[in-house]
Amino acid sequence: MDTETLGSKVVYQIYIRSFCDTDGDGLGDLRGITQHLDYLADLGVDCIWITPFYPSPQKDNGYDVSDYRAIDPRYGTMDDFDELSREARKRGIELMLDMVFNHTSTDHEWFQKALAGDSKYLAYYKFVDAAPEATADNPGEPPTNWESKFGGNAWEYVPSLNKWYLHLFDVSQADLDWDNPEVRAELAQVLRFWRGKGVNAFRFDVVNLISKAEGWENDYEGNGKRFYTDGPHVHEYLQEMVREGDIDGLLTVGEMSSTSIENCIRYTNPSSHELAMVFSFHHLKVDYLGGDKWKLMDPDIASLRDMFRDWQEEMTAGGGWNSLFWSNHDQPRPNSRFGDTEHYWYESSTLLPTCTHLMRGTPYIYQGEELGQTITDFTSIDQYRDVETHNYYRIIQERGHTPEEAFDIVHARSRDDGRYPVAWDGSEKAGFTSGEPWLGLPANHAWINAKTEMADAHSVRAYYQRLIALRKELPVIQIGNVHFVDESSDKVIGYERELDGVKVLVQCNFSGEEQPALDAPGGEVLIGNYDGPILAGTLRPWEAVAHIWR
Ligand code: GLC
Repeated sequence: MDTETLGSKVVYQIYIRSFCDTDGDGLGDLRGITQHLDYLADLGVDCIWITPFYPSPQKDNGYDVSDYRAIDPRYGTMDDFDELSREARKRGIELMLDMVFNHTSTDHEWFQKALAGDSKYLAYYKFVDAAPEATADNPGEPPTNWESKFGGNAWEYVPSLNKWYLHLFDVSQADLDWDNPEVRAELAQVLRFWRGKGVNAFRFDVVNLISKAEGWENDYEGNGKRFYTDGPHVHEYLQEMVREGDIDGLLTVGEMSSTSIENCIRYTNPSSHELAMVFSFHHLKVDYLGGDKWKLMDPDIASLRDMFRDWQEEMTAGGGWNSLFWSNHDQPRPNSRFGDTEHYWYESSTLLPTCTHLMRGTPYIYQGEELGQTITDFTSIDQYRDVETHNYYRIIQERGHTPEEAFDIVHARSRDDGRYPVAWDGSEKAGFTSGEPWLGLPANHAWINAKTEMADAHSVRAYYQRLIALRKELPVIQIGNVHFVDESSDKVIGYERELDGVKVLVQCNFSGEEQPALDAPGGEVLIGNYDGPILAGTLRPWEAVAHIWR
């Protein structure tokens, strides 16, 4: 896909469990998406990424797939999917499906056959022999000391086989062996299956973890990730998948965990025939104390700016392409995290998209973000559902924190902070379900909801609509060059876009105090989150403004 096309698109992410429930079971479903297609078309998005709705025991909310070619009855039927696909297309909206190819659920038929001792399927996973004397009670040392991303060791012992298997995520998510050509062929067939149903866009879950280093080595310096991140054959395997799955040139995005710019240029430069774009996460770690997600600190805006500068400028220079995003179903709501929703809810909720939507790349909006939904107001660990949250609540206490401290940490960092249902209206169940929502909504949904905002021309949602419309309208936003400017304040992020003599300057004040900014003589205000005249050379609290010269 050429940069003009990529640069003109906006993708909206639907976390299906929490979007809209039409059958009263408290979980969103495919029909709930169909019901709200007009809402999405009105917002102006081109494509919706739908998180996994395939059969799954839901240990990791669908990222533990037990059948790649069917629909989990909780979410609907294949007819519902076909209807959604037809209706979306009528409105010019493309569906992007989520492919979880690094691992399967241990309920998957392949893993079940492996457990029964079938050698063909044992070779589909990363099984390693245990010591001959190993027993269920005393399995000995796992093959490596690598840590699972959800806490604990990354290996599980299976007594009946006297083998260990690798799981970089939950114990119920067994890593596939991509070194086995049969596995790669199976996964390409999955892509062809969905292509056959008219799907033209795909998101690939943690796809830079598929190639593990040969020879199982302990990691004495870290948690093991250097042995499988952007691993030895990752580019080769992606090229094969793209070729065999018949997806070259489509709208595709790979989720890249702890990756590098150099690799992301290779993943996305069209000459590699890999993916259209990547998600990288370095900018979402600027509030991790010492790089640890479970240690809190205020976001470091200067390093956020450096991160954006490096990724924007270097990816452009290398012919790569970025996705632009602040949130997804794995991140706490960004306005609560990077902004001040208590005093400047509107300004914080509009500053963040101003900062990213005008950059070079393809913007993603995570459901509810366009309404300014915040983090939860939970007061007890029992209100959380996420496996990672519960694991770390325990691990943080094992590290010496009190239960209260552990709660404060998970409250700020839990994936459930962004996973609770979309607020369609201000009623008790938020217009999300007629039953019990699977995860509770914060009380502020009484005023932060779609119905209220659709009726208000100055809402956060209306602001998102304007940002999307600007991207459609202005080639300088779609494909213009990008260059970060030197601001005199460490709380301000500013950059310029330029194309054929048209220039845009974007400046965002990430603080509750006034900050000095570059003056913009002769520029006309393109968009901003304060009413009335702009103050020359000054940005007000959480003010974001873009000027254009044309
Ligand atoms: C990705 C998903 C996340 C999931 C993990 C394992 O990071 O976004 O939700 O838990 O992969 O599949």
